[in-house]
Amino acid sequence: MPEAVQEHSCKIAVLISGGGSNLQSIIDHIEQGHINAELACVISNNPDAFGLVRAQHANIPTHVIEHKNHATREAFEQELIKTLDVYNIKLIILAGFMRVLSPTFINEYQGNILNIHPSLLPKYTGLHTHARALEADEVEHGCSVHFVTADLDEGPLVIQAKVKVENSDTVDVLAARVLEKEHIIYPLAVKWFCEKRLTFKNGKAYLDDSPIDQAVLLAPNHEGLLR
Ligand code: GRF
Repeated sequence: MPEAVQEHSCKIAVLISGGGSNLQSIIDHIEQGHINAELACVISNNPDAFGLVRAQHANIPTHVIEHKNHATREAFEQELIKTLDVYNIKLIILAGFMRVLSPTFINEYQGNILNIHPSLLPKYTGLHTHARALEADEVEHGCSVHFVTADLDEGPLVIQAKVKVENSDTVDVLAARVLEKEHIIYPLAVKWFCEKRLTFKNGKAYLDDSPIDQAVLLAPNHEGLLR
């Protein structure tokens, strides 16, 4: 008789809208055995997102839920919830997902949604972060992983990585330097979450039961998934 298939304890859904390089880095870290998790599904609101192709190559079920085919934000999010419910998801990862989620959606999954943002939050919430950092003559810039709460880009911080801003930087060059760091800190946060080391209680993030009062900072000479 076949053995009962045990459901993975860390089933992840990734929400994307575009290229999906962060999705790819999570896929790679799981495939290489660095993260013990199952990528249960990838959902895109954009049918042309290249991330969908990446997911299909990795044999991950994909769903396109186009916001523009839904009359209201609520109807769009109900469809999202219906899809997520099928997979019994433990963690939702926003990876370049370009829709603002309502407090109703977020409260449904609060403590189980992570986002990556291309700035050193609380600086530069919102869009065009690299251009704004260059415009402001910042000497350093970077990226942040945080729990998602009803305040856009303002949920409790988990981990950040910094990069130096060079005089010669263009938006694209700086974005690429930041993206390299994103591909390190997002898998690390996901690994901690799946190991139950990273938790969310009463609006605060905790690592190993200590409150994260200041985001963990990736050491400049890190060697990948260190902790
Ligand atoms: C990343 O810069 C991420 O920080 C932001 O959107 C971009 C997504 O890139 N939220 P990709 O689709 O993962 O390549």
